[in-house]
Amino acid sequence: MLDLLSRRRSVKPAMLAAPGPSAAELDRILTIAARVPDHKKLAPWRFIVFEGDARATFGELIAAACAAEEKEPPSPARLDMERNRFLRAPLVVAVISRAKPSPGAPEWEQVLSAGASAFNLCLAANAMGYATCWVTEWLAYSPRIAAALGLTANEKVAGFIYVGTSNEKQDDRERPALTDIVTRWVG
Ligand SMILES: Cc1cc2nc3c(=O)[nH]c(=O)nc-3n(C[C@H](O)[C@H](O)[C@H](O)COP(=O)(O)O)c2cc1C
Repeated sequence: MLDLLSRRRSVKPAMLAAPGPSAAELDRILTIAARVPDHKKLAPWRFIVFEGDARATFGELIAAACAAEEKEPPSPARLDMERNRFLRAPLVVAVISRAKPSPGAPEWEQVLSAGASAFNLCLAANAMGYATCWVTEWLAYSPRIAAALGLTANEKVAGFIYVGTSNEKQDDRERPALTDIVTRWVG
């Protein structure tokens, strides 16, 4: 586990090919994603799975949202790109934050739990040998995409997790020095 965490690296969606997880692996990944710190046991997250043809079908809605929301009419190439957005990987999971008023667990804590869930999903898939990428892109903030996903007023997209197989090694990324992010409280 330490080795996995020390080496963990996201892989760009465009570099995520088939195969993706099997049905049994996906169940396991989602079960692990639901096993995160969750103050007051509210399950303030849910998952929407896109695989197979659903990725292209949803792509039509992505292109329509793009056409409706862009200030300038998008080019045919852009619309094609949007249509194919979810086809970049064999599996895309939308992690939805659904914070509800709760006396014991403020909204902030519930949102943090959704982040933990998204990351556990990535780690579970990584531990099975799949590469992942957690992105929001413009979709996460689009009212039309929110409607297409059936989100209610208290729900937000925490991220779209792209999952697939990558044979390419992504260059490492600079990480913050501990001296910049750690202090010791001395009173
Ligand atoms: C909530 C959230 C949203 C993100 N959205 C994007 C995004 O839209 N596009 C992107 O390139 N990276 C996005 N990232 C960053 C990638 O997930 C990834 O962390 C980054 O590329 C660095 O790679 P690493 O995970 O190997 O450190 C997002 C990360 C988080 C936590």
